[in-house]
Amino acid sequence: MKIHIITIFPESFNSYFSSSIIWKAKEKWLFELELYKLNNFSDDKFKRVDSKAYWMHWQVLSPEPLSKSIEYIFNIVWKKIPVIYMSPSWDLLTQKKVEMYYEKLVDDFIIICGHYEWIDERIIDIYVDYKISIWEYVLSSWELSASVFLDSFIRHIPWVLWNIKSLEEDSFSHKLNRQKEYPIYTRPEIFMWKKVPNILLSGNHKKIKEWKINNLS
Ligand SMILES: C[S@@+](CC[C@H](N)C(=O)[O-])C[C@H]1O[C@@H](n2cnc3c(N)ncnc32)[C@H](O)[C@@H]1O
Repeated sequence: MKIHIITIFPESFNSYFSSSIIWKAKEKWLFELELYKLNNFSDDKFKRVDSKAYWMHWQVLSPEPLSKSIEYIFNIVWKKIPVIYMSPSWDLLTQKKVEMYYEKLVDDFIIICGHYEWIDERIIDIYVDYKISIWEYVLSSWELSASVFLDSFIRHIPWVLWNIKSLEEDSFSHKLNRQKEYPIYTRPEIFMWKKVPNILLSGNHKKIKEWKINNLS
């Protein structure tokens, strides 16, 4: 699976993709990442990619460089692949939706990261298959919302997490009935004035399982 990201700021993904679980997964080639600098697709002599929106005070991304970059990727992969656009105002991301996207996006896909206020709507009409919101608040960075989506997505790829059970039994998983996980404890048995619940020290598997179910929220 190759993830193609079109952005004005490819460098903003560096720190995120160069640490922890996601970095390891990339090093093991569990997925590939290709970043495309949008300005390289501009015909403007100063490599500008934006223009003033009609009847607004804001700059938006012009359609031509975006279209050129998307078509360029379609050409190098020899086919049309799904295109994602992140936006506060569309389909709210939940764990169930992440699972759905993981089932649908089995092959390469593109994420468009815009800049300024928005992108020309015709790009959305013509190319975009999935419009994803990471929840009801507004960020100033497309790259951050794309990284949030990708983090929740990439952990579903087999072998990304060393313990597949943690994925199956995470908060909001199907197995936990889409509820929040139960409280978790480790040694020491007593920390300050708080003790690990007796049931977890009992060794009684049946009762511990019941306790876990009863402590979902
Ligand atoms: C300043 S926001 C643009 C807000 C836009 N004018 C609106 O009212 O919906 C810049 C970009 O960051 C991304 N973004 C911000 N908040 C987001 C969210 N909650 N979910 C997904 N993407 C978000 C989107 O790509 C958005 O277009």
